[in-house]
This record gives sequence, structure tokens and C-alpha cells, in this order.
Amino acid sequence: MNAIVELSDAHVVHKARSGGLFTRDRVYALTGADLSVAPGETVGVVGESGCGKSTLAKVLVGVVRPTSGTVSFQGRDLWSMPAAERRAAVGGSTGMIFQDPSTALNRRLPVRQILRDPLDVHDRGTKQQREDRVRELMSLVGLPRALADALPGQLSGGQRQRVAIARALALDPGLVVADEPTSALDVSVRAQILNLLLDLKERLGLALVFVSHDIQTVRRMSDRVITMYLGRIVEESPAAEVTERARHPYTRALFSATPGLLHPIDPIPLTGPVPSATRPPSGCPFRTRCWKADERCAADMPDFSVASSADHRFRCHHPVQEDESTRDLVRQSHPTEPS
Ligand SMILES: Nc1ncnc2c1ncn2[C@@H]1O[C@H](COP(=O)(O)OP(=O)(O)OP(=O)(O)O)[C@@H](O)[C@H]1O
Ligand code: SF4
Ligand SMILES: [Mg+2]
Repeated sequence: MNAIVELSDAHVVHKARSGGLFTRDRVYALTGADLSVAPGETVGVVGESGCGKSTLAKVLVGVVRPTSGTVSFQGRDLWSMPAAERRAAVGGSTGMIFQDPSTALNRRLPVRQILRDPLDVHDRGTKQQREDRVRELMSLVGLPRALADALPGQLSGGQRQRVAIARALALDPGLVVADEPTSALDVSVRAQILNLLLDLKERLGLALVFVSHDIQTVRRMSDRVITMYLGRIVEESPAAEVTERARHPYTRALFSATPGLLHPIDPIPLTGPVPSATRPPSGCPFRTRCWKADERCAADMPDFSVASSADHRFRCHHPVQEDESTRDLVRQSHPTEPS
């Protein structure tokens, strides 16, 4: 099936002021990303803070233009389209939900207007049809009609995020990208918002890209899980294989450090310096913290290898074996443990 959106060798390099007045560092926020999202699938994105998850999300929805590489929407190169065409392509095919609904919504506009806005901008339907669509969107996300004239400040955090979801759905996109959609919410409403997203995905046949620090939730919600490290996609795994059969040492370490395993274990310890996105190390970016690193890892960035299932790819010179348990890796990786 044709991908809704496809990235090919996408790089994002920021110039950030640092130190002296006239020096500008390059920040390698996204490096060589290849990713394709098919209709109806859920792709989860995991990795520690600053690894480029939000950058990837924004590139996928056409909010950030990659410094190099291509973004294709239904096979057409997004950034070579004329601006008006690009806006129409982006608006009609993708919606984005941001982390913090209190800053993502215009606080001066009532809910009704927030939801009408994309319909007005993209000139969808008659006035009456737009009014109807606003009502339909509110009911789709479980917002009572009485809230149509409320301002964002008068809503609860959960209600605000429902408005943000409704707005993302306004133009009936095939893909919704949710960047930490629940992290600003009370724990008690997180599950409701996640369930709403899953329910909408099923009912509307949406593809969903889901970014979260809560990696067990990512695993449960996704078909595929993408692991990022220092701006790079280092593994792409079926969600069912990611906890115990991931091949990249970093993916195993990430998933070992979260509760939710059937038999909880000590996490795989990661020692060594955390590299900066302004000065990525040579070779494999994870080598400064990886217990398996050797000279080859310092010299060459590994290419993608394919695991036994074809939709499972990883970039590592010395991958974890499929039958190696994370418990064994915990033992291997303890540098000071007496044998
Ligand atoms: N506009 C910008 N200018 C300079 N650097 C930026 C900019 N946006 C992001 N960065 C840097 O790019 C890198 C990737 O940032 P990004 O926000 O994509 O990470 P993230 O994985 O979403 O992090 P978090 O989990 O904290 O949200 C970081 O080093 C960040 O500091
Ligand atoms: S390539 Fe080397 S340093 Fe990188 S993850 Fe694999 S073993 Fe570790
Ligand atoms: Mg982010």
C-alpha cells in the first residue's frame, strides 16, 4: 500500500547560539532518517530527552523543513511543491497533537472557533456545513455541546486535549501525529485520552505516530516501535518483539529500565558520558555508553541490518542475539560485578 508519508535520508540541523556572541553551534537534531508510515498503522517513537522525537514528528507533518533529504506525501515531494499546494497537502493529510494543550490552543478563542479555524483556512464547505462539522467533531471526542462557547482557560486539562484532538481531526486527515499527548495531564485522565485516541484511530482508520516517554504505553499502543538515539533512528521493531527481542543494545536498555515487565529486573546500567547533539561522537552515536562498544563502533556508523522478521531493522555492529534475555544482558553489562 502507498505510504501516507515517507521520509528519505532526512536531516535537521539547527544553528544555535552558544558560548560566545558570534559563535553558532550546529545541533544535529535529526540525522539520516528513513521512515514510512502506512495507512492505518500506529508507529511509536521512543528515546531519551533531546534525541529528536519532536523534530521527527514535526518533519512528518510538514511543520519543519528538513535541512536535506525528502518528505513525500502520498508519493509527492512535499518541499518541492508550491507553498499553497504544500499547505493544502499538509492540512488535508495530517493533524498534529502537541504535548501541552494549554499553550497549543489560542486562549482567546472559544472552542467553536478553534475547531472552525482549520475549516475556514482551508475553505471547506459552506458556513452551515462548517457549523455542523464543529458539532460533529465535538461529539467525536466526547465534548459536551455546552462547551462550544467556552474559552480554553475554562476547560480542564483533559477537555483541552480533547479540543486539540478534535482540531487535529477537523480536515479528516489520514495521519495524526501525537507528540507526548498525555504528559501534561493528570495521571487520572491520561488513560481516557489514550483510549480516545485508540478509539478514534479504529473508527476513522487513522494512521497514528505516537511519541511518549512512557515507553510501555508506546509499546502497548503501537504496531511498530522506532528507537531514536542522538538524532538517529537506531531500531525499528514490531511492538511485540521490542521488550525481549530487540537487537539494539540501547533499545534493550531503555525497556529494561521501566516497570511493567512480567518479572521485574534491575535495569541495564548505562555508564559513560552522554554525548551532545552539537558534537556527536564518531561512528555509532551510542558507543560512549554501550557495554559492547569496540574500535569498530568508534570508526564506523553501522548500516541497517534486518532481523529474522523483515519488518525489524537495527543499526549495530554487535547486536544482541534474539534469544538473549534482558536478564543476561544486565549481568553482561555490569562492569564492576565480580564474576
Ligand atoms: N529550534 C531549535 N534550535 C536549536 N536546537 C534545537 C531546536 N529544536 C530542537 N533543538 C535541539 O535538537 C535536539 C532534538 O530536539 P527534540 O525536541 O526533537 O528532542 P525530543 O526527543 O523531542 O526531546 P524531549 O523528549 O525532551 O521532548 C535537541 O538537542 C534540542 O536541544
Ligand atoms: S554499534 Fe557498537 S557501540 Fe553501537 S550499539 Fe552496537 S555495539 Fe554498541
Ligand atoms: Mg519532544
